[in-house]
Amino acid sequence: MTMKDVKTSLLERTSVRRYEREPIPQETMDMIYKAVENTPTSYNGQQFSVIDISDQELKEKLYELTNQKQLKTCNRLLIFCSDYNKITRLAEKKGFDVPPFTDTMDGVTIGIIDASLAMMGAVVAAQAAGLGSNCVGYLRTVDPAKVAELLKLPKGVFVVCGLALGVPREQPDLKPKQPASLVFHKNCYRQDTDKMTEELGAYDETVKHYNQTRAGGTSDNDWCGHILDYYRHAMEYRILDYLKAQGYDVKR
Ligand SMILES: Cc1cc2nc3c(=O)[nH]c(=O)nc-3n(C[C@H](O)[C@H](O)[C@H](O)COP(=O)(O)O)c2cc1C
Repeated sequence: MTMKDVKTSLLERTSVRRYEREPIPQETMDMIYKAVENTPTSYNGQQFSVIDISDQELKEKLYELTNQKQLKTCNRLLIFCSDYNKITRLAEKKGFDVPPFTDTMDGVTIGIIDASLAMMGAVVAAQAAGLGSNCVGYLRTVDPAKVAELLKLPKGVFVVCGLALGVPREQPDLKPKQPASLVFHKNCYRQDTDKMTEELGAYDETVKHYNQTRAGGTSDNDWCGHILDYYRHAMEYRILDYLKAQGYDVKR
């Protein structure tokens, strides 16, 4: 298997939402599995699991729920979950007391971090192998109860994010990202608020220009307004209720 180097894999990655029909070679999936298995996790607790979906009927059901076409056209759909079921199963078998860690924000956060890092490992491994990938957050937000039912998730497990994988059928332009001066704060958070806001304004203009001129569909979206629109829309999600249903009764 030929692999791209790390620099190319990281710097040239874009989200790919259109895929060829051809399957992903088994050795490529094996390599992605290995990358995911070796994820750094909190305390090496490995508080995550991945549901690997190849069943077309199931992919189409998930597409119908989310309206994300890439879910039915991708070759494999990996769903990264926070998972305290595994440690709980074993602890119960060994007769150990299980503290209600899932009822704390830190417990929830750790599961999300572990699953997210695992997903990023898969993204980079897939990219290096020449595959295209797209993270799909709608699998967490749109109808969490139905997704949990379809995936038969036990208590202690909830969806963090999906990752569609396939042989790329498109090569989208690189999206402009915030410049280093806005991403990296040297030794402490930036104090030059006015300059920072000015730089954010310049970035906003860059995104608007990109959206007006990019290959594929164009729009007049700026960065700030577009993201706030998403936040407004996302205000309707009731993730805490979903966490409760999955056995995470977050109290502190
Ligand atoms: C947690 C997460 C959830 C995402 N959810 C979706 C999604 O539901 N649908 C989609 O088309 N893209 C989704 N994306 C992809 C982002 O839109 C994409 O990463 C972003 O626009 C930057 O573009 P790039 O990946 O090409 O650099 C998601 C990305 C992340 C990290």
